[in-house]
Amino acid sequence: MSWAYRHLLDVENLSSDEIDALLDRASEMRGFLDRNEDQGALLRGEHVALLFAEASTRTRLSFEIAAHRLGADTYLLDRASSSMTKGETFTDTVRNLDAIGFTMLVVRHHRTGAPWVAARHFRGHVVNAGDGWHAHPTQALLDLFTLRRAWGGSPDALRGRKIVIVGDILHSRVAGSNIWSLTQAGADVWLCGPRPWVRGFDQLARSLPSDRRLSVTDDLQSALDGADAVMGLRVQKERMAGGLSAAEYRDRYQINSERFARAKPGALYLHPGPINEGVEVTREVCLGPRSLVLEQARNGVPIRMAVLSLIAETGSAAGLSQTSATRLSQTSEATRDLSSAIR
Ligand code: NCD
Repeated sequence: MSWAYRHLLDVENLSSDEIDALLDRASEMRGFLDRNEDQGALLRGEHVALLFAEASTRTRLSFEIAAHRLGADTYLLDRASSSMTKGETFTDTVRNLDAIGFTMLVVRHHRTGAPWVAARHFRGHVVNAGDGWHAHPTQALLDLFTLRRAWGGSPDALRGRKIVIVGDILHSRVAGSNIWSLTQAGADVWLCGPRPWVRGFDQLARSLPSDRRLSVTDDLQSALDGADAVMGLRVQKERMAGGLSAAEYRDRYQINSERFARAKPGALYLHPGPINEGVEVTREVCLGPRSLVLEQARNGVPIRMAVLSLIAETGSAAGLSQTSATRLSQTSEATRDLSSAIR
């Protein structure tokens, strides 16, 4: 088993071994949950703060239930009910959570890099629950876990599979993280959406090492052709201005039964939620027999149990291992510029 991180901030730097360790732990946790067995001792005595500066349903609740299942206490701090609305800076909030005695911090924030900044001011463990348009590591891990289970469960289950992510790739932290974890698992990943929403990804595809397969297109038909799985993304209505309208998007990119039939027989449909039914996907597809949408929600719990229990084993600041310390300082370095933006 190989896991040395004190925080989970991104999937981009995780090796295949580290991801396997995490998914193995998640399988164990999923087994406990399916058999309704108690795992109440692993995080007993941990106090988990859920700092959610942005709306969330699945992510927040599954972190909460995951922590409870492991015996930890959780406390929610959302924007509306905390001093975030009184002008307290983000770093002050984090320093105070540390002083009050929280030992784990789950952060969702609209600013890219916020969890990295939190990790510099918090002596316990930090988990990124989604930052800006940047990363959503636990979502990417649960998507990988869900697909791996659906295709037989082995670490090689995704190798050579064509997986299409359709929609507003540019503004999606879900896509941002999935690009790394799915290509690393050996999948042939296609990004598809209107040109303005896949802008810059051609360049990323060209810059990847040759063992990572990433294609970019605005042509839905060629993307769907022979696909093993299709992952929809929420059309972010707040970002439609200047681009195309929801109706235009639906006409060209909505996944309906007819279009889904272009994928391989038995192809799977995923979506991280929240879903705009009738815009990015029809009810028929998202509730159909090949949809994994509710399985993704279910797997959010064992994945978050795995993350929380593994990082807890690496010890907090006082007992920080050399590897974690080195890695932490590397990530701090990379986000140095962000810290002045997010105070
Ligand atoms: C996403 C998020 O908030 O990043 N949802 C999720 O966590 N399941 C996707 C979105 O907002 O569209």
